[in-house]
Amino acid sequence: MIPINKPWLDDDAKQEVLNVLDENALTSPAKNGGKRVQAFENLLKSYLKVKHVIAVNSGTSAIHAALLSLGIKPGDEVLLPSFTFVATANSVVATGAKPVFVDINKNDYTIDVSDVVKKINKNTKAILPVHLYGHPSDMDEINSIAKDNSLKVVEDSCQSLGSLYDQKQTGIMGNLGCFSFYASKVLTTGEGGAIVTSDDDLYEKLLMIRNHGMVNGYDTEIFGLNLRLPEVSAAIGIAQMRKLDKMLEMRKTNAKLLFDGLKKFEQKCLLTLPYEPENKKFNWYLFTIGFKENSQRDLIKNALIKEEIGATVYYDPPIHKTPYYSHSNDLNSDTFLSNTVWAWNHVLSLPVHPLITEADINKILKTFENNLQ
Ligand SMILES: Cc1ncc(COP(=O)(O)O)c(C=O)c1O
Repeated sequence: MIPINKPWLDDDAKQEVLNVLDENALTSPAKNGGKRVQAFENLLKSYLKVKHVIAVNSGTSAIHAALLSLGIKPGDEVLLPSFTFVATANSVVATGAKPVFVDINKNDYTIDVSDVVKKINKNTKAILPVHLYGHPSDMDEINSIAKDNSLKVVEDSCQSLGSLYDQKQTGIMGNLGCFSFYASKVLTTGEGGAIVTSDDDLYEKLLMIRNHGMVNGYDTEIFGLNLRLPEVSAAIGIAQMRKLDKMLEMRKTNAKLLFDGLKKFEQKCLLTLPYEPENKKFNWYLFTIGFKENSQRDLIKNALIKEEIGATVYYDPPIHKTPYYSHSNDLNSDTFLSNTVWAWNHVLSLPVHPLITEADINKILKTFENNLQ
């Protein structure tokens, strides 16, 4: 099976992990975290060009902690797309606030800023755009809406490490940015995440939130949890950072091969391919196609799966159609999101990760040739 994503681990990562085991230093409850956590944070800091990085144990924890640090609480509303992984909305619910779902753009599947404006009310406290598939959201417009309405911006950059908007890394343009290092991501620590910010006060708060709200020992000052990243995970992250540029370059090469091979189907108006606008660079976390016909999407998906290629629909269903969210009057109401529903029925993501070979890509292209006309 060619999975949709796969971590690329090597001897360097193994050695880093063995070093942690040899030193018998698996974790640290210190305010600034353990030795490897700090080293991993420093590498991320210089890569992203941001003042502060707080490593945590998942992307979900990162978003939850970011919202807590902003004081998001019951009665507040947070605007976010429904077309994302459910963790984005779950993190809002975990604070007691209400997730309010916003539609997406049909061309790149990121949050539709005109719908953001329509959904702002007196309870709205924050916008939570998602850089889905590694496609950066329209950050200038989002930040300007946030400024005009005194809202905070938390970027869900869980899928977008390495993507650029106006030459800037995603995650550093809002008040806070959140990354995931889950095993499927462009850079992995197994499970893991990070919050980034340039705000000194939020940074100090987040250090506490990561560690039960404590500063020195048992002096809990604010509400916090155990969100610490284990040292073994940070060690894997350090090794992954050394080859991040190479991994991103390989994704780009694979994306180009897919793009060139599928172009003719776009010319026949059977599908649309992912395009990088002039001011955005994708990290090619996923290569996502929009089919004209739902039936052709499903036909190609099934044919690829038969060929053992892990083509996947992200997200089926979108959050507001999941049982938990659609059955809760408080959470979903009767939201109708036309582009979200369209995307749910028409998109398909293909593997583009560094471990697929040119032969695998040719197999994908052949499956299109044999099944799509
Ligand atoms: C868009 C998005 N948000 C949030 C998350 C949550 O990250 P994690 O799985 O590390 O908790 C993920 C990844 O799984 C994601 O893709």
